[in-house]
Amino acid sequence: MRTRLTEMLGIEHPIVQGGMQWVGLAELAAAVSNAGGLGILTALTQPTPEALDKEIKRCREMTDKPFGVNLTILPTIKPVPYEEYARVIIESGIKIVETAGRNPEPFLPPYKAAGITVIHKCTSIRHSLKAERIGVDIVSVDGFECAGHPGEDDITNFILLPLAARKLSIPFIASGGFGDGKGLAAALALGAEGINMGTRFMATKEAPIHDKVKQAMVEANELDTALIFRSLRNTARVFKNGIAEQVLEIESRPGETQFEDIRELVQGARGREVYTRGELDHGIWSAGMVVGLIDDVPTCEELLRRIVEEAEQIIAERLSAIGAVSGRDIHASA
Ligand SMILES: Cc1cc2nc3c(=O)[nH]c(=O)nc-3n(C[C@H](O)[C@H](O)[C@H](O)COP(=O)(O)O)c2cc1C
Repeated sequence: MRTRLTEMLGIEHPIVQGGMQWVGLAELAAAVSNAGGLGILTALTQPTPEALDKEIKRCREMTDKPFGVNLTILPTIKPVPYEEYARVIIESGIKIVETAGRNPEPFLPPYKAAGITVIHKCTSIRHSLKAERIGVDIVSVDGFECAGHPGEDDITNFILLPLAARKLSIPFIASGGFGDGKGLAAALALGAEGINMGTRFMATKEAPIHDKVKQAMVEANELDTALIFRSLRNTARVFKNGIAEQVLEIESRPGETQFEDIRELVQGARGREVYTRGELDHGIWSAGMVVGLIDDVPTCEELLRRIVEEAEQIIAERLSAIGAVSGRDIHASA
């Protein structure tokens, strides 16, 4: 499959693995890139900019294919030296950066000067247009289905993607709710140049998380996610476990929720321990509605091959057969 995305990023398949806090380590990013997609390291999973530098080097030892780095700017419990992380990304020679959260404008001049292709994650058309205006190269349009932060508009990809196709001139990637070839074929039909997946990549052999988490995803269905932090206008879609339910209960109490009320429950360190220890109810962990489409734990290579083959088959057989039949009908009735 060749799209503007595969051309711009120098990858074989139009499939990107989005930044994932605590999950986006070299093992996963390298596996996705080796399988022909674009793997992405998550900068803030590394405790310091120096540690990110080492992780980039570690990833380079595992793959000679292109991979990127995600630098997310969101409200955090501890202040983060974002400029230092960005400097490491630039100095290490990374050529693809995924930005997310706040407006990436202040970071664009140094990224551009270093020849970096910037993919900005947006959850709305107005933010996508703004990203295009300020000089971002590719937008990753994250629909309401997505894991992590879907924004506050609650618009699904069936509306966001055709709108992006109508309004944007730069290429865009469909993100949120993708996990199989049907999704890839649909994303291409809706105007996207490829797909970005988070949740689906967690349930792969190479994802550096506990098998119990992967198994929970296989067993989960599409109803097993929850939207927390709504009351703080910083909504996050997470796996619906005991902690998420406690947070929802606190948020539903009369009066305004203060972050202090839930701080203890939602600490990043507890979320991280879910992945390392496999204790599913220890903290909050991100997952998207696409858990309902996950029923196995393949390697990244198997997953990407399967998605691309299914999409190609749908396009070449199902869609072209439907097109040919309706074409005949039009001629017959003319
Ligand atoms: C465990 C996990 C952690 C994530 N962490 C981040 C993050 O730190 N920064 C970011 O931009 N997106 C993050 N995301 C969002 C993904 O990059 C991607 O946009 C999203 O997962 C797409 O939706 P999907 O899960 O339905 O594929 C995370 C997603 C997951 C599943």
